[in-house]
Amino acid sequence: MELKEKIRVIDGFPKEGISFKDITTLVADGEAFKESIDKIAQYLKDKNVDVIVGPEARGFIFGVPVAYAMGIGFVPVRKPGKLPAETIGVEYSLEYGTDKLEMHKDAIKKGQRVAIVDDLLATGGTIEAVAKLVEQAGGEVVSMDFAIELTDLNGREKLSKYDVMSLVQYNV
Ligand code: PRP
Ligand code: MG
Repeated sequence: MELKEKIRVIDGFPKEGISFKDITTLVADGEAFKESIDKIAQYLKDKNVDVIVGPEARGFIFGVPVAYAMGIGFVPVRKPGKLPAETIGVEYSLEYGTDKLEMHKDAIKKGQRVAIVDDLLATGGTIEAVAKLVEQAGGEVVSMDFAIELTDLNGREKLSKYDVMSLVQYNV
């Protein structure tokens, strides 16, 4: 199946000049969604992954089923103020200003092998922030896995010390 054909591209959203890759059409298609999840799980199969970590919100859509398919746990990374127990936080830069992400302090055990899953790799800022949280907690990031990669934004270069995998690539 050509997964790329299942992704809807909307030019000019959320603002002019952006070509938005809409995963809702992929996820709404049972066969395409299953194939996407199975492919990520298959890729991770021999990497001795202990736990999947994924950032709110779209990272949950892909990260949770990958964890379920592999029979391992899922740890959510959330926007500030959402997690009830003690958290660790990290700030990261956006196009304008900064944002913050949090994870429960005890969510990752020291030495655990972690795969981070998200829907999209653009600049890599989000996933780099998630990796910092995992490493701060004592985990080892063994893979970063995405449904979509926007190659011209050079996220892969920013993340050159990690194993990065994507199912579908676009220039921008
Ligand atoms: C989007 C997307 C990725 C991130 C990629 O999330 O889901 O997480 O941006 O961009 P980057 O590689 O440049 O960091 P967004 O922050 O829009 O939030 P959402 O997942 O809650 O929709
Ligand atoms: Mg996101």
